[in-house]
Formats: sequence, C-alpha cells, structure tokens
Amino acid sequence: MCGIVGYLGNQDAFPILIKGLKRLEYRGYDSAGVAVLSENGQLEYHRRKGKVDDLLQHMEGKVPDGNMGIGHTRWATHGPPNDVNAHPHLSGDGELALIHNGIIENYHALKETLVARGHTFYSDTDTEVLVHLIEEIMKSSEGLDLFEATRVALNEVVGAYAIAVVDTRRPHELVLARKSSPLVIGIGDGEFYIASDAKPIIEYTKNVVYLDDEEVARVSLSSGLKIRTIANHKVTPVITELEMAMESIEKGGYEHFMLKEIHEQPRSIADCLRGRLRLGHETIRMAGIDDHEEMWAEAKRLIIVACGTSWHAGLIAEYMLEDFARIPVEVEYASEFRYRNPVIGKGDILIAISQSGETADTLAAIRMAKEKGAHVFGICNVVGSSISRESHSGAYTHAGPEIGVASTKAFTAQLAVLALVAMRVGRLRGALDQLRFNRLLVELDAIPEKVEALMKSESKIEALAELYKDRPNALFLGRGYNFPVALEGALKLKEISYIHAEGYPAAEMKHGPIALIDENMPVFVVATKDAHYDKVVSNIQEVKARGGQVIAIVTRGDTEVATMAEHVIEVHNSDDAFVPMLSTIPLQLLSYHIAVKLERNVDQPRNLAKSVTVE
Ligand code: F6R
Repeated sequence: MCGIVGYLGNQDAFPILIKGLKRLEYRGYDSAGVAVLSENGQLEYHRRKGKVDDLLQHMEGKVPDGNMGIGHTRWATHGPPNDVNAHPHLSGDGELALIHNGIIENYHALKETLVARGHTFYSDTDTEVLVHLIEEIMKSSEGLDLFEATRVALNEVVGAYAIAVVDTRRPHELVLARKSSPLVIGIGDGEFYIASDAKPIIEYTKNVVYLDDEEVARVSLSSGLKIRTIANHKVTPVITELEMAMESIEKGGYEHFMLKEIHEQPRSIADCLRGRLRLGHETIRMAGIDDHEEMWAEAKRLIIVACGTSWHAGLIAEYMLEDFARIPVEVEYASEFRYRNPVIGKGDILIAISQSGETADTLAAIRMAKEKGAHVFGICNVVGSSISRESHSGAYTHAGPEIGVASTKAFTAQLAVLALVAMRVGRLRGALDQLRFNRLLVELDAIPEKVEALMKSESKIEALAELYKDRPNALFLGRGYNFPVALEGALKLKEISYIHAEGYPAAEMKHGPIALIDENMPVFVVATKDAHYDKVVSNIQEVKARGGQVIAIVTRGDTEVATMAEHVIEVHNSDDAFVPMLSTIPLQLLSYHIAVKLERNVDQPRNLAKSVTVE
C-alpha cells in the first residue's frame, strides 16, 4: 500500500527521501514521486509510474535542492498507475503539495463542490481533491495557515488518510495527519523524519511519535512538534523508543528478504517463546492473559479475526484452543465479519491476528467488537501498530521486521504465540491437565531446533522446484492441523510465483477437486504421522489412482508414504498441534525456489501490498 516519507532539517532532503522510499518498497506500489522545497520556497516535484529506480532515472541530472521534502510510493486505488496519478498532488495555485495513503470516500461530492467553485483537476485521484480542499479553505478563510486549514479540511473528509503537506510560503514547516493509516514522526536533533512505518527512520533516530487517529501535527524548525486533534484539542506528544535493529531491515547476505526470513525462523520462534515458555517452572507467562485471568477463565466464546496468512494461523488456533481449552471458537475473515451484524458482546473475546497491525479490515473488525462490548486481544508483529494500540490486551510475536511481502516468519511466530495462548487458557479453564501441559511445554520448546534441522532439506526442495516450476496448477492437501498448512502452501505458491494453486482438506477432494487430477497435476500432500495419518494415506491412494503426482511432507522415518509418493520431504515429529510450525517450512522454501526459478519479483510480487491499509 502507499508509503509516505518526509524530511525537515538541515541536510539535503532528496537523498533521505529516496532512501526512505526504498525502505518502504516492500509495502508494494506502482508509482513514486517526490517534492522538495528549497530555502526560498521553490517547489520542485517529480512523479513517475513504476519503481523508485524509474523515478531516479527520469530525474537524472535534475536532483532537487532543499532541506525539506516529501516522498510517496503509490498503490493505485482511484485511477490507474500512471505519471499523472502519482503523488505528490498540487493545489490549483501550485503553492501546496500533498501525499496521501488511504481513501477519501466522499471525494466525489467534495470534487463536485470544488469544481463548482472553479477548481480544475488533472488526475483521477481522491488525493488531488484533498489538496484543493485545503487550498479552498485557506483562500476562503483569510488568515488560516496550512496547519489550521488542513485541520478544518479533514473535518469534511470521510475515509482513511495519512497525509503530509507542504506550503511553499512556509519552507520550514510540514503538516501531517492520520486516520486509520499509519504515520510515524522521527525526532532527530533539530530535524524530523516522517514515514509510514519506522523502517526509513531507524537509521537516523530511535525516538518516534506515533500519530493517533484524527490527529494533525505541525513539525517546524522553529517551534518543534505540535499536535491537535481535528476537533482542535491539544495533544501532548508521547515519544517512544524504537527497539528495531538496523540489521533486521537489511538482507544480510541473502538474495531476498523472503529467504532471509524463512531462515530466521528458528530464531524468531525462539524469540517469541523466550520468557513466556517457562519449562523449569512448568508454566506459561503472558502478560495479556495473566492480567485478565478471570475473564479468560469465564469467556463464553472466542472469535478470531484476521486476513490472508494470519487467517490461516487463526484456523490452526481454533483447533488448538478447542483441543487444549475446550472453549467454542469461531474464525472469521475480518472483511466478512465486519460487514455482517455478528452476534458478539460482553463475555466474548475477540482475538485479532495481524503481522502489520495495520490491516484495514482487521482494524475495523476490532473497533466493531469493542463497540459491542467484547474484549479485544491483539496478536501483532509490528510494535506500536494500530491494532496493537487499539486492542485491550495482547501479545507481540517478536518475529522482527518482515519485509518480504509473502509472510513466512510472522506466520510461524503467530502459531507459537497462539500455542502459548491455547495452553495457558487451557490450564486456566482446567481443561488441560498438568501432565499434558508439561509434555506440550517440552514439545514447544523443541520446535526452534526442529525448524533449524529442516533447513538442511533446502537443496532437495530446490531440485523439486526445478521439476515442478512449469506446471500451471497445483493442489495442496492436508487434514486436521495440516489443513490450514495446505491453504497456506497454496497461498504462498500463487502469490509469489503466479501459479494457480488450491488448498483443500484432503477428504474434501472427492467432492469436486478430484476432477482436476491427471498426470500433469502436482499434488502436495501434508501427510505427517498424526491422528489423520491413515485417512490421508487413503487420500494419497485416490490421487495416485487418477494419475496425479504426489509430493508428500512426511514425518521422519515414514516408509509407507514413500512407497506411494513421487517425492517425500521429511519433518521431525511433534505434538499434532505444533506440526504446522514444521510442515509449513518446506512449502515456504518450495514456493520461494519456484518463484526464483521463474524470475519473479519474490519480495515484491505484482499487485500485492505488505500492509493492506485500504478496505
Ligand atoms: C500472505 C500475506 C497476506 C497477509 C494479509 C494480512 O503471504 O502476507 O495474506 O497475511 O494481508 O496481513 P496482516 O497479517 O498484516 O494483517
């Protein structure tokens, strides 16, 4: 989704803006632009369809000079990706330049009013309407400066926004605002760094202020940072210290972030368990649950909301929570849940799972649940994200920044947190006896080491990728805890390699998808030794009987499936509930190597955004 950067200080703004835009590339985008304001109020702006490198190429020999500027990567919503629709957008008189992440829902009505007042528009975007609206307010209300006019304008706006605006008449001042789309202000020594998330800021300063919804900020070289709400209440900025390390946002010698993140999983799962899984004490400590024990013990029902890969983690959590805690659980796509009239209220706990913590639908779902009286427990990876801040309680996954668009380490870290939650709640509710709990603790503790061992299969998986990379379709099957793994395997393959793939519960195959099976169809079956093993073996036979080619993920030492499958990849044994943290790894590696062999843009697949901040 769109990325925003800004700089105000004493250094050359342009290189900082470009570096910042590159740090945000992972979010997914289709065009880029910058505007730089020189000391004497000269505004230079450039916009280009394509990547930041295309913008740089277009600007060769035209590096703008100035200590203040804004930059943007656009993910098209209103109007196709082209040079004209790229940001920044300018006011009619050319004095204001604005960048925006989000959607102005009532842009059409605003545009009609502005057209009637003589404004003309050159782009198809909703953003251009906003900058004209600010201009109109400045003109019609004599004396209102950029900050005030922006605040007043935002009272007329319906929708989501993170914006940065500059005014050529005030070259030492930047105005920012947010509602539902994130915006972070880095506080340096006499300088300010603005970005959609902390990654472009971390190399300059650790001190940041997260803007809250409906807040407008003015950063000025003379008067510092001032924040008010759009309703004009004063807000005292709260400075937070970033914990992120620079290495975590670099590739560290790997060809792609995705590969680095796959390989980081032994560490990220261990980080997630550290301090919480207390083997010696035979307990689990999780502040988000410890502080609300009674509520969890008495909860009537759990509702899990999430999107995409996080939703797959939610499905696995459903099985764990039902098994360990014997509590009814529903798992919902956030986008479906929020547009129904769901029965939810006091006594229910809504668990929101989100890597970015900014997914618009998940955020809207938690707001709705809160309004209806439910307690919201957020599981996020990005520290300080909107969902983490708006949840009543929660747990971070501590996987570190995930930059590859395809979620890998965040998924397994989510599974680790959810396992802890399910076990902790299981004990609280008396559904999990101490003996089984202790056995589970030992199994969970051993997961990082078993994930590490799996990395040794990479060369074998790479060879399989070569064999299957040119197949146009693929089927992924699994049962029980491994059914969501099949869904996740299919999602990984399609999103980064653009191969059509479907994930199915293995037993459902005969209700339709079996018609697809012939000698050209690779069928990836997760067939580990669990409660469903014999049934899955029968499903493999059904595939084989129709000429399908089976590639199976099996438990180490399995000899039965090996006699039926074309290829097997072994994973260590564990409790059924924890096997997904293992069985998903070969599927991640397989998708990665297929995508590399097909020369896809692995870290930034087409059309996708890392953080989906529009509905
Ligand atoms: C797939 C993927 C997406 C996200 C989804 C939710 O690899 O990354 O499906 O899982 O967009 O994002 P978060 O978890 O940030 O809410």
